[in-house]
Amino acid sequence: MKSNMKTIRSIPQMQKLARAMTAQNMTIALVPTMGFLHDGHLSLIRRARKLADVVVTSVFVNPIQFGPKDDFKAYPRNEKKDIKAIASAGGDIVFVPRAELVYPVDFQTFVTVEKITATLEGEFRPTHFIGVTTVVAKLFNVVRPDLAVFGMKDYQQVMVIQQMISDLNYPIKLIVAPTVREKDGLAMSSRNSYFTPRQRPKAICLYAALKQARAMVLRDGVDKPAVLKRKMTQVILSICPTAQIDYIAFTDFDSLQPVKRITRNTICSLAVRVHGVRLIDNMKLS
Ligand code: PAF
Repeated sequence: MKSNMKTIRSIPQMQKLARAMTAQNMTIALVPTMGFLHDGHLSLIRRARKLADVVVTSVFVNPIQFGPKDDFKAYPRNEKKDIKAIASAGGDIVFVPRAELVYPVDFQTFVTVEKITATLEGEFRPTHFIGVTTVVAKLFNVVRPDLAVFGMKDYQQVMVIQQMISDLNYPIKLIVAPTVREKDGLAMSSRNSYFTPRQRPKAICLYAALKQARAMVLRDGVDKPAVLKRKMTQVILSICPTAQIDYIAFTDFDSLQPVKRITRNTICSLAVRVHGVRLIDNMKLS
């Protein structure tokens, strides 16, 4: 079946089209992605489809959110397949800007959210969130969406974008869609494609640790973060003895502040390198 989906590579063309759609009172949803789409991304597009007249999906591997030791060059890409998948999920427009148009040689303006970017991911990837907020602000300015859909797997990113929306008065509603998991519980991620078939089963260690923590809270009434962290570390290392844990953090769901005692509003987030692949995941402990 032939799709009517438009692929736009030019920033002025995307801006012109967005303005024209807004003038016709059409609501626009933006689903920002870095491509190599999996079912998690497609669930965001499907959610957007239900909420707006037009769904714009951006596909852009944003160089400035990768640190010098990160996997920018190796990051998986497959534009043709992405475009087909976006069309099948109900997308109307794919916005695929070229890096040299997004960041021309004299580019010198960056958007920074302070405080909440200093912990968790920000501690281990100090330039990451500046890259994310800068590109998302640019996408907001070009696409002018009424709403934007992000995935809960990147929970801190959601908090940071929400802060930016409110601080910079973007008239945009942030929609957060649940994490989509593989059958064994591994959170879907483009980076899962790095695993060999022998390594892949070890990647469930994050989900297994989160489930263990949740059970200890709900079943046994454990409320000490240190006790949960110790057990989660054991679970991770029993599944993948070579895993490197960047952090296991217990924070308040609304403020991202660390908690001394687990409550119904506590979320546990973690980042772990499994066979060199850096994975993140999170779970609310109620
Ligand atoms: O979550 C991602 O894939 C990226 O951080 C985003 C939001 C598309 C910005 O590059």
